[in-house]
Amino acid sequence: MTVYDAIRLRRDVRAEFSGETIDDAALTRILDAAHRAPSVGNTQPWDFVIVQDPRRLCEFAAHVAHRRERFAASLPPEQRDVFNPIKIEGIQESGTGIVVTYDPDRGGPHVLGRHTVEDTGLFSTVLAIQNLWLAAVAERVGVGWVSFYDEEFLSDFVGASAPVRPVAWLCVGPVTGFQHTPDLERFGWRSRRPLSDAVHRDQLR
Ligand SMILES: Cc1cc2nc3c(=O)[nH]c(=O)nc-3n(C[C@H](O)[C@H](O)[C@H](O)COP(=O)(O)O)c2cc1C
Repeated sequence: MTVYDAIRLRRDVRAEFSGETIDDAALTRILDAAHRAPSVGNTQPWDFVIVQDPRRLCEFAAHVAHRRERFAASLPPEQRDVFNPIKIEGIQESGTGIVVTYDPDRGGPHVLGRHTVEDTGLFSTVLAIQNLWLAAVAERVGVGWVSFYDEEFLSDFVGASAPVRPVAWLCVGPVTGFQHTPDLERFGWRSRRPLSDAVHRDQLR
């Protein structure tokens, strides 16, 4: 599989987890890919917390279900009708959660390249997530990013204390297949925009 193949095949997976748990060797290869990401000042500010205990997965899923309800309640009725049938997580079905955290203190007070743009540390962590996501595709393993949580809850859940922040809960597991079209497009929430709308010359507008 080429990188382009993996990019085209990649999906945010919610409903296609097969119910098997990822084997340790594949999980290590995927985490190794994540850990090879570029990072500002070579700080490698990420950590990966693996959660596989079914009771812990159930506990996190219950928290996410509440946050989903709150979001649904905030929507105007016609948008709520579009949102309701959309699955937004596969926490228990995937069998594995990976919580990716960001530690701004890693690398000390003088991070080469972060002195002007503070967010570059966070950017680096997200690049590790994208590496993980594409490597998973090459392993025929699905990844679904869950962000319907209170940051404080997830920090407590994985024992991350400030200034360390949880950046993502990733549902990771073998899949029956990948959808061709993003779920949010299939369910009429929001579609991909054409590349020509995103590319500009000289000025944004
Ligand atoms: C930062 C971030 C947070 C996301 N949070 C959620 C989420 O909480 N639940 C969900 O179902 N999908 C979530 N997604 C997945 C997006 O909905 C998905 O990437 C987008 O609809 C495009 O679909 P695709 O990834 O299959 O191309 C998130 C993606 C990103 C990058």
